[in-house]
Amino acid sequence: MRRRDLDYLVIIGMVLSGLYVTITGIVSDMFGLHQFIFHSLAGYVCAGLICCHVALNWSRVVAYFDRLLSRLRGREGRPERRQRSAPSAGRREVLIGALSAAGGFLLGWLIPDRHPELPADARDIGELYHEWSRPGGRVTLPVPDWGGRPAPYKTYPDAERIPLPSPTDFTGLSVEEAVEERRSVRDYADRSLSREALSRLVWAAQGITEERLEFRSAPSAGALYPIETYPVVNDVADLDPGVYHYAVREHALELLQRGSFGGAVTEAGLYQAFLGQANVCFVLSAIFQRTRWRYRERAYRYILMEAGHIAQNIYLEAVSMGLGACAVAAFRDEKLNELLGVDGVDEAALYIMSVGERA
Ligand SMILES: Cc1cc2nc3c(=O)[nH]c(=O)nc-3n(C[C@H](O)[C@H](O)[C@H](O)COP(=O)(O)O)c2cc1C
Repeated sequence: MRRRDLDYLVIIGMVLSGLYVTITGIVSDMFGLHQFIFHSLAGYVCAGLICCHVALNWSRVVAYFDRLLSRLRGREGRPERRQRSAPSAGRREVLIGALSAAGGFLLGWLIPDRHPELPADARDIGELYHEWSRPGGRVTLPVPDWGGRPAPYKTYPDAERIPLPSPTDFTGLSVEEAVEERRSVRDYADRSLSREALSRLVWAAQGITEERLEFRSAPSAGALYPIETYPVVNDVADLDPGVYHYAVREHALELLQRGSFGGAVTEAGLYQAFLGQANVCFVLSAIFQRTRWRYRERAYRYILMEAGHIAQNIYLEAVSMGLGACAVAAFRDEKLNELLGVDGVDEAALYIMSVGERA
């Protein structure tokens, strides 16, 4: 490709990306989209193309400044330089440039500012958050850094890994029957839960159901899967009581702490005694950054919804196998985080699902 053709292509790219930057700038101003990623991306593309354009015309640029300098010094430019120099801009071009700049300025000035103060009438932080995470909302709190994408899977390489049986033997209730029969059950029998049942419960929570893309049983915004599952085992056949982590990819458990933690979960769960009587309590936590880097203000909404999807899968799977389950969100965060060994900031416990043999 000839240099001139390439330059024309670059100019077309500059015009298109410039237009795109303008339109997305107007849209984000009009609708108060605080962080409109496509606007800044198009801006970077445009800036890159401008650099290309300057590089392709470097000799003209040099010649222009050479002539300008000569003129300022009161000397005439050398004749050979003059031949290489670009044709000077006519009045029409200068006028068009000035009018475009003035038009852009006027447009920016005319579009109303959509970033007012925090509403003084907000009743709680939830209301503020909801408003802040709403595109075009009245609340703007600038966030300096949304961070990058963290590892999609959490693993404990030093932990003992216990493989789980493959969850293939589906002989439970139909979805409709499970939905109809589902109740929160808080009375559990003194009988061990089978390992097969535990396997099906963690699979229903977060198991991989589409191998190629590694999609899971519960939906996830952008397939980013921020939720981790920690079974706190009290009474499961052929499995030591303890705190485990579900290794999704391997469909296995990683043993984090061996021992009886029924009392610790009960204490964390504001002394709701059934937590200590359940065969297993699944503690769902979130690694917020997994969703935050992409969905920014809306990440927290999505993460809580996803915990809900997973909890419902556990409920229905438990009902389908004739077990009892109960969702628990009333707990002392610091106690539960401590039990899982997470910091409560980058990763924090969100929900407990107790599951047990029905009394
Ligand atoms: C977000 C959420 C939090 C809950 N927290 C608790 C809890 O801390 N303790 C409890 O015993 N039940 C808890 N539950 C269960 C509800 O009490 C139960 O779903 C409700 O009474 C309706 O009964 P059902 O689930 O049998 O339809 C919770 C349910 C949800 C959805």
